[in-house]
Amino acid sequence: MTIGIDQIGMYSPHYYVDLAELAQARDVDPNKFIIGIGQSQQAVAPSAEDIVTMAAAAASEFISKVDTNKIGMVIVGTETGIDASKSAAVIVQHLLDLPENMRTYEIKQACYGGTAALMAARDYVALHPDRTVLVVASDIARYGLASGGEVTQGAGAVAMLVSAQPRILELHDDSQFISRDIADFWRPVYTDMAIAMGKYSNEQYVQFFQDVWANYKAATGHDLADFAAINFHLPYTKMGMKALRTVLPQADEATQNRLNEHYRIATTYSRRIGNIYTGSLYLGLMSLLDGASDLKAGDLLGMFSYGSGAVGEFFSMTLVDGYEKQLSPEDHEAFLDARTKLSVPAYEQMFLNKVPYSAADYSTDPAAITSRFRLTGVKDQQRKYVNQ
Ligand code: HMG
Repeated sequence: MTIGIDQIGMYSPHYYVDLAELAQARDVDPNKFIIGIGQSQQAVAPSAEDIVTMAAAAASEFISKVDTNKIGMVIVGTETGIDASKSAAVIVQHLLDLPENMRTYEIKQACYGGTAALMAARDYVALHPDRTVLVVASDIARYGLASGGEVTQGAGAVAMLVSAQPRILELHDDSQFISRDIADFWRPVYTDMAIAMGKYSNEQYVQFFQDVWANYKAATGHDLADFAAINFHLPYTKMGMKALRTVLPQADEATQNRLNEHYRIATTYSRRIGNIYTGSLYLGLMSLLDGASDLKAGDLLGMFSYGSGAVGEFFSMTLVDGYEKQLSPEDHEAFLDARTKLSVPAYEQMFLNKVPYSAADYSTDPAAITSRFRLTGVKDQQRKYVNQ
């Protein structure tokens, strides 16, 4: 029996800020942001969108096409939790009008949460092949206005349906993973803004990649030439390339060219959206599948997942015959093109208008454009959502 990704969908808010304009406003050379970091636009979430609404919107890309009675679990991977107790998954289940006879829960380990959810889903389907799992990775990356991490913010979600006999990608049971308790990035519970040890986090990302790749090679016998592409967690589009470059000399020229070109295609969406934490690796995967015309069934894809704190994992997937029929690249391109550009002051205003860390009632911006799922506000300390 094969198990893997049967459906995949994405969502990012309707607003973005142009990073050349942000650079000018911060008195930075725009080439630092565009070339040095590798980001040209950054998604900005209005107050009426959070991880719940974005998760529901990403899943709604395919939910009407699947048999929802077969869904055994909804798992949300996130590090932007909206409650210390209740999971986003049970609200997503409600907003999507899914049946009750399923488990719903949330997983946290920084950007690794999406992969942790995917692996839990794979293991569940292995025991229950007649059921499926809805996995959603949803996050809003915030470091603060004019902070060192500002250029690496972003917002969005990727949803995946995991099933037996998947129609897009077969997931292999070949993971190599490492967990080490380090302080490269974290978010204290009193704030929605992360603390990052910028340079140290970059170094650790590369170190984890090198370590899990070495273990993976030793355990599986695979080398770079076996892969059509290697996808990376993308906190910003230069980051994965920093890691890839350290191993490319192991490969012949044709392999190097192929991996470089597919890396470039895989970063297209992230370059316009920014870091979506748990979903970033999978946004890169979607960007690759949507954009690479030379991929074919049977191609092996490598996946490097990294979540600060930190966990690193390398695993592989194989493209399934007819995978391209399950994708809608034009819709994704059109969606990104149709977004509204914010001036830097308008971005700053939207950034600061957030559900407060207090017991006060709060109303989100009624004029903000959202998906059909919307956070209207907080009343008596309860978040209120609508499916409009
Ligand atoms: P910084 O200090 O602003 O940037 O921090 P820099 O001075 O290191 O410059 C960045 C690059 O721009 C350099 O290139 C410069 O040379 C280049 P590199 O040496 O890296 O190849 N540069 C220019 N290029 C062209 N023209 C110019 C120019 N000027 C400079 N004029 C940093 C950047 C990413 C560290 C910062 O934004 C940050 O702290 N971000 C947040 C942390 C982060 O994203 N870390 C990534 C690894 S950890 C991770 O992936 C996990 C994470 O997703 C969280 C989770 O797991 O939950 C973050």
